[in-house]
Amino acid sequence: MSFSKLTIRDVPVHDKVVLVRADYNVPLSDGKISDDLRVRASIPTLQYLRERGCVVVVMSHLGRPDGQANPEYSLAPVAEHLAELLGQPVKFVDTCYGDKVTQAVKVARPGDVVLLENVRFHTEEEANDSTFAGKIAKSSQARYFVQDGFGVVHRAHASTEAITHFLPSVSGLLLEREVTIIIDAMEAPERPLYAVMGGAKVSDKIKVIEAFVEKADKILIGGAMANTFLAYKGNDIGRSKAETDQQVTLDAIYAAARKKVGDEHVDEFLVLPVDVAVAATIDGKQPRRNQKVDSIGETDIAADIGDLSIERFTTELAKAKTVVWNGTMGLAEFPEFAHGSARVALTLATTPGMTSIVGGGDTADFALKWDGNEGDSFTHVSTGGGASLDLMAGKKLPGVEALLEGPK
Ligand code: ADP
Ligand code: 3PG
Ligand code: MG
Repeated sequence: MSFSKLTIRDVPVHDKVVLVRADYNVPLSDGKISDDLRVRASIPTLQYLRERGCVVVVMSHLGRPDGQANPEYSLAPVAEHLAELLGQPVKFVDTCYGDKVTQAVKVARPGDVVLLENVRFHTEEEANDSTFAGKIAKSSQARYFVQDGFGVVHRAHASTEAITHFLPSVSGLLLEREVTIIIDAMEAPERPLYAVMGGAKVSDKIKVIEAFVEKADKILIGGAMANTFLAYKGNDIGRSKAETDQQVTLDAIYAAARKKVGDEHVDEFLVLPVDVAVAATIDGKQPRRNQKVDSIGETDIAADIGDLSIERFTTELAKAKTVVWNGTMGLAEFPEFAHGSARVALTLATTPGMTSIVGGGDTADFALKWDGNEGDSFTHVSTGGGASLDLMAGKKLPGVEALLEGPK
């Protein structure tokens, strides 16, 4: 078992007031939630507590308001949406501690849900301030703290760390599921385990790449990350996005890969595109043009893996039993350069018996938009960006470490 912390199932929550930390840091456009994955993912824990007669007090952050109350970052729209999903009213309190909170909880009935305003309207939140955490705990009158905001547990903030010094603190069902699925995929996967890595930068994901060099049976590399690898291997990449200062990092990655699979197998283990889809400008109007990686033109911009690489990647992927996908295969915000990502998504969604885990903010966004099925076509779409990367890289997450340990 990869999850060692106590959860809400392990403590007598019945009829108690429970303070839940969720991650409702959701994208808003014109005051409406444009992607509600994080809100939907919080429902099982809230329902579990409601069914047991708890008064559920929920807190979260939204965006980075830098310690200032700012209506643009209010959680009020989330309260409305949460009420819709729960099928019952949610009481929104426009502050996260003090008399208003105390009163709202006092009049709440078993099963009621109270949502507090954005904890990041106070500088003390990100400072992991103990007095602030104490005020939240006290005004909520909670008997337990439940951490269920997986997306934010890589931060040691007042609502993820300091708060655990005031209340017995356990995990919610989402946090437990996220950590269990991701750790199991890294530590005890059904093999072969393949990693698909892409996205913008090698430097953002060095630790994750290193972890996969150690754990995975194959790593397929696309996106701008592949450009950096291709340039390192001596290919001319024209005007493509890449990092030119990653020589030392890539030396180390290749050294570890050679050590693991042997010199002659290294390119079958760390699989790079054989062609890329290029255009002279990326403006949504230029069609994609396939170019072999050794003949990318001076003015070309590689914005996706090429058609041959798509075939190769997806044929390889279909052999895997577990796939962890992190980073889009190209500039997937443009349909013309989303082919690689879409075909990876399709392979993960349709290969029978495959465990597929999608992590990373942009990758999860893409997978959800691609999927007509709210992400259910994959085994798991992580609600965490930075948190899922840190977990894959083997880092400890402060918001998880702070929770009560279960019996060994
Ligand atoms: P995640 O958020 O899933 O961890 P990243 O932030 O690392 O993923 O990568 C997603 C970003 O990478 C997207 O903004 C995408 O446009 C960009 N990207 C991917 N491939 C390319 C490319 N070939 N050229 C430029 N940008 C790219
Ligand atoms: C996220 O969206 O990654 C989490 O909600 C954490 O937000 P942060 O990067 O602003 O701390
Ligand atoms: Mg990103």
